Amino acid sequence: MPAPAISRSLAPPKDEIILPAELPAFQTQLLGWFAEAKRDLDWRRTRDAYRVWISEIMLQQTRVAAVLPYYQRFLARFPTLDALARARLDTVLRSWAGLGYYSRARNLHRAAKEIVDRHGGEFPRRIEEALALPGIGHYTAAAVLSIAYGEPHAVLDGNVVRVLARLGAIRGDLRRPKRWRELAAAANALLPPQAASAAGPPSSPGDWNQAMMELGATLCTPRGPQCAACPVARWCRAHALGIALRVPAPRPKPKPVRLALSAAVLLDPRGRTLLVRQESDHSTLFSSLWHFPAIQSARPAPEKLSRYLQSAFGITAALEVLPLARHTVTFRRILLAPFLVRVTKLPVPNPSAMEGVRTPRLAEIECLPISSATKKIAAASLAALPRRRQRASSSF
Ligand code: ADE
Repeated sequence: MPAPAISRSLAPPKDEIILPAELPAFQTQLLGWFAEAKRDLDWRRTRDAYRVWISEIMLQQTRVAAVLPYYQRFLARFPTLDALARARLDTVLRSWAGLGYYSRARNLHRAAKEIVDRHGGEFPRRIEEALALPGIGHYTAAAVLSIAYGEPHAVLDGNVVRVLARLGAIRGDLRRPKRWRELAAAANALLPPQAASAAGPPSSPGDWNQAMMELGATLCTPRGPQCAACPVARWCRAHALGIALRVPAPRPKPKPVRLALSAAVLLDPRGRTLLVRQESDHSTLFSSLWHFPAIQSARPAPEKLSRYLQSAFGITAALEVLPLARHTVTFRRILLAPFLVRVTKLPVPNPSAMEGVRTPRLAEIECLPISSATKKIAAASLAALPRRRQRASSSF
């Protein structure tokens, strides 16, 4: 096949990345590749809007391999939107524990309730209605509506933006709002026609969106674009110019921030501990999951932790050093510094604060939704406690 005219100039209009005359061949080529090469993923075996929605939320900021087991377990636990809406928030958070970015689970739960209340339990079809739900931005709305309902909305995520930038050899900061809008227009202009026509292949917008994302995820990757295997390399200006590796310009990585979290592992004679939670605390580390009373500082700070325990709970007991553990959340490198605090009696929370306090057995705190950092603190503490104490903590 002769190479297509890439463009009359190397600077095409930003929303016309593929010349109109080339569009049908480009679409046929990419869709053909996707049909052959797509990864067989659980969420690709359904068009059910609820299931597609769950997968798209889980896939945000999380790798496919990490999502797979969560997706299956979550749907086994909440098989329908109605089941999710009726579940307790704690149960939902527990199913999410370990996936991170817990506001996603809170928003899913709130949105499920809204969908039951306002949309008869069906994920809405209209984009304005989808966008009005908690936790649903343009990307998620376009992905769910296109995949589940065949609505013609193009998605724009990091993978798609990179594919578009390379096809059009678009340089500069792609996240600038004006440039982002141009890219959104360009992505919409590429959507294939839905009805069979002489001009191009019929296809579902959902397949198209997934083909663009799949290309970015598997071949047109940030640091190792496999142009020799790319089904649409013929239309790619960055490839023609030999600059695929330099487009888009890598974003400067945020510098790692180092901090320490000093946590109090309270322990009563029956092996019970104290976990707290503040509804309003949406810090990335705990995201309002259950956690040990803790303070944040540059280095482990037992004195500061002591003062906090005294002022918040009236506890004056000594702090015993437990082994350190490490935890990373995106660019934060966190040193977890647990301290054992033996008490004869756990502080009795004032009834109005009951919502924010739990006293499970230390060996069984996973019955509550907790973060990976909290799990590490508990594991470091249990490993350091004498066997006798551990038996006590799991048998009471
Ligand atoms: N990334 C997020 N959702 C995706 C999907 N449905 N297909 C391919 N990549 C994705």
